Amino acid sequence: MCGIIGYSGRRPAVPIILDGLRRLEYRGYDSAGVVVCGAERLLGEKERGRLDNLVRLLALRPLAATTGVGHTRWATHGPPSKENSHPHYSQDETFAVVHNGIIENFHDLRRGLERRGVRFRSQTDTEVIVHLIAQGYEGDLLEAFRRALEQLRGAYAVLLVSSRHPDEILAARHGSPLIVGVGEGENFLASDVPAILPYTRRAIYLKENRVARVTPAGVEVYDLAATARGRGARTSDGDGAGDGAARAARLERSSTTRVVTIDLDIKAAEKEGFDHFMVKEIHEQPRAIEETMRGRVRGGEVVFDDFPLSPARLRKFNRVSIIACGTAWHAGLVAKFAIEEFARMSVDAVISSEFRYANLVLGRRDLVIAVSQSGETADTLAGVREARRLGATVVTICNVVGSSIPRESNAVLYTHAGPEVAVASTKAYTTQMALLLLFALRLARARGAAPRDRVAAVLEQMRALPGMVRETIGNDRTIRQIAAKYHKVYNYLFVGRRYNYPTAFEGALKLKEISYIHAEGYQAGELKHGPIALVDGSFPTVAICVRSPVYEKMLSNIQEIKARGGLVLAVASKSDRRVSRLVDWLVRVPDTDECLSPILAVIPLQLLAYHVSVRRGLDPDRPRNLAKSVTVE
Ligand code: G6P
Repeated sequence: MCGIIGYSGRRPAVPIILDGLRRLEYRGYDSAGVVVCGAERLLGEKERGRLDNLVRLLALRPLAATTGVGHTRWATHGPPSKENSHPHYSQDETFAVVHNGIIENFHDLRRGLERRGVRFRSQTDTEVIVHLIAQGYEGDLLEAFRRALEQLRGAYAVLLVSSRHPDEILAARHGSPLIVGVGEGENFLASDVPAILPYTRRAIYLKENRVARVTPAGVEVYDLAATARGRGARTSDGDGAGDGAARAARLERSSTTRVVTIDLDIKAAEKEGFDHFMVKEIHEQPRAIEETMRGRVRGGEVVFDDFPLSPARLRKFNRVSIIACGTAWHAGLVAKFAIEEFARMSVDAVISSEFRYANLVLGRRDLVIAVSQSGETADTLAGVREARRLGATVVTICNVVGSSIPRESNAVLYTHAGPEVAVASTKAYTTQMALLLLFALRLARARGAAPRDRVAAVLEQMRALPGMVRETIGNDRTIRQIAAKYHKVYNYLFVGRRYNYPTAFEGALKLKEISYIHAEGYQAGELKHGPIALVDGSFPTVAICVRSPVYEKMLSNIQEIKARGGLVLAVASKSDRRVSRLVDWLVRVPDTDECLSPILAVIPLQLLAYHVSVRRGLDPDRPRNLAKSVTVE
């Protein structure tokens, strides 16, 4: 989940690398580093902490060159420190690498290298790569790179530079994302699109097990696994990408490389005047939902163009499993209710890291829905591979076009929320719920499980969703006041029922992610089985009490909390007249069908977490210890 960038061209490399790293900082930010190919030797700097530290250092000690690479780190092996920061160098400092991913067999490789006299300078798994390259180098950089990759097990996107080949960057991808930006007389490499957008819109999404050689003059792509295919290489953790790369005996020039034009607004990747990406992304939700629904509702029905699963195929499934992590899992929990309600199928919503190691009973009649904003989450990807191995069909709900999980699924539906930069997910969540609901309705119609007019009525309300989301965001002032009053509290409880117990989970997750306040989400019916013991006058409970078949039950739960002197902040429907009499603070959301209510009810909770975080003097976009895209197990 680190960010990597490379530049090879005619302009000074360092400003371009630093600019790219800034756009990739959401991928990791505990340290940063650059290395460039100087006239006779590699020149580099690295620094612990945020990118600004490195920028300050480079202002004092500028590095002049036109080819180089950079890295922003999220620690996996070895704590954040200068020594563990990338780039990592060979002993004679003629080779340097930056890496994203995990080398699983690095212990063995390190021991072997140490026996041959190599002295390691860091605790990272990455450092073995550069020493292997140095050991295997006999004048042909590409061949030395291949030999090193051959020995690695795990996941990597890795960039290599060498003072002996000063105009060239070698890159390899195996289980971690990497793109090549194609320019005029200059070329780029990056973990993600925003890093290269100011410079070029032409890109190659490097496929699994590909190696790229990037120079100012051009890009060559090689197929690393050409000789490994068909051997069914798998690692012990069930990761189908496994050690496929390790079996390659030679590199073959790839014949299937495509340069695509990225159709993404650069503005979308920037803050546009908001203080933080998170609040910008909260405000983008009406548009993101509109984009997600665009063209998918026609004549009172859901239409997915180019969707490869026919209604006949959708009818054949008898069970659904939803797999996801974090916020995406909460969207999956909401979808469970929707699919059960409309398509009348039994649904499980399982956390990917549990799913991949469960004693799965899956087969051809199982539909697995993977939900992932990034499309790169390692556990979800492994779950997808396992589900497919067992014969299930996988449909992915994803926000990042061309990412790994969609590529390995049978079908994909994209959320079109635009890049989500803040670590805490907001617009990805609401668009996931909207798209999953559309999918539930599509499934329902294919299976003849829901009457046409019921589906048409829900779709009619969905049309109004962007406006209702906008109206809900309009509560910002009230939520700011609540945050001002309760930002110093140590614990929060969030409760809801049915479609909105996942909202309670999500509200609690948002608050702990960015405010570091302990918060728990609970099904309100469980209050009496434990959490109500916590309630006293200083302990706020956030209750989701919108119109639903369990509305009266929620009112009783709120009364139970009030009877024990508890403090209640409620999210209620606009037309409601009863909740307001019971609670301490109230935020209203437009009245809507219960199946749509989680999309509205979560918005005040997103804003609450945001304002509490800001009040506490924290950076909501970059919470400590977390990363946006968790590409390691
Ligand atoms: C990380 C992020 C969360 C996200 C989760 C799943 O924990 O911080 O915001 O919900 O990963 O990510 P995905 O990209 O698969 O939705």
